[in-house]
Amino acid sequence: MTATERRAALDAIAEEVRACTACRLHAGRTRAVPGEGNPMTEVVLVGEGPGVNEDRLGRPFVGRAGELLVRLLASIGWRREDVFITNIVKCRPPDNRDPEPDEVAACAPFLRRQLQAIDPALVVTLGRHSMSMFRPGTTISRSHGTAAPVDPATGAARAHVFALYHPAAALRAAAIETASFEDVARVPVALEEARRSRDGATTTAPASQPPEGGPALVDAPAHLPESDQLTLFT
Ligand code: URA
Repeated sequence: MTATERRAALDAIAEEVRACTACRLHAGRTRAVPGEGNPMTEVVLVGEGPGVNEDRLGRPFVGRAGELLVRLLASIGWRREDVFITNIVKCRPPDNRDPEPDEVAACAPFLRRQLQAIDPALVVTLGRHSMSMFRPGTTISRSHGTAAPVDPATGAARAHVFALYHPAAALRAAAIETASFEDVARVPVALEEARRSRDGATTTAPASQPPEGGPALVDAPAHLPESDQLTLFT
């Protein structure tokens, strides 16, 4: 899929999310939160569901948890606009309660289609709800900081999944915040491993060295306009 096709596919999904009435959560929303980011990214971050700030603005992770998420990404030289960030459920559960299984099921096709459109190498789950969708049968305390292959039925056909604690949990407990910074430091290596297993043993060297270990922009294929450059991380 070209960058233009990916963007169009993601925009179409976002429009459907905004009009969705498939579960009870639509009744309480101010705005649905489809997700946002670089359609050409290799990395999709999946949280749980919008909170009060996200519901107000229609954007994921814009409150205090989002600020911590930005700091976690910055600690490995990444920026939020270089990845794609979305949630398991796209409308705010009332009083920030956990999403119910039928709400998760109703929303799952949107995430599956977003993953099909982006075809990421790495899915990073934020918290136990997201983790249990991609790595059923384990716990966040066992899986955090580790990667595993993704079941293609999730929509991510050729990806690994890496589990992080939810940033909101890290805000509540200093030990979890410390563990989160240790865990996120392993994400670039997990991405490299995911690339290798997706492409065989050959990985393309980045076209330019990233400044201070930050993301490297690789020359876009000739058919893409400059704004559609593929973003890779080293
Ligand atoms: N928590 C989430 O899981 N998702 C958001 O978008 C914000 C907070």
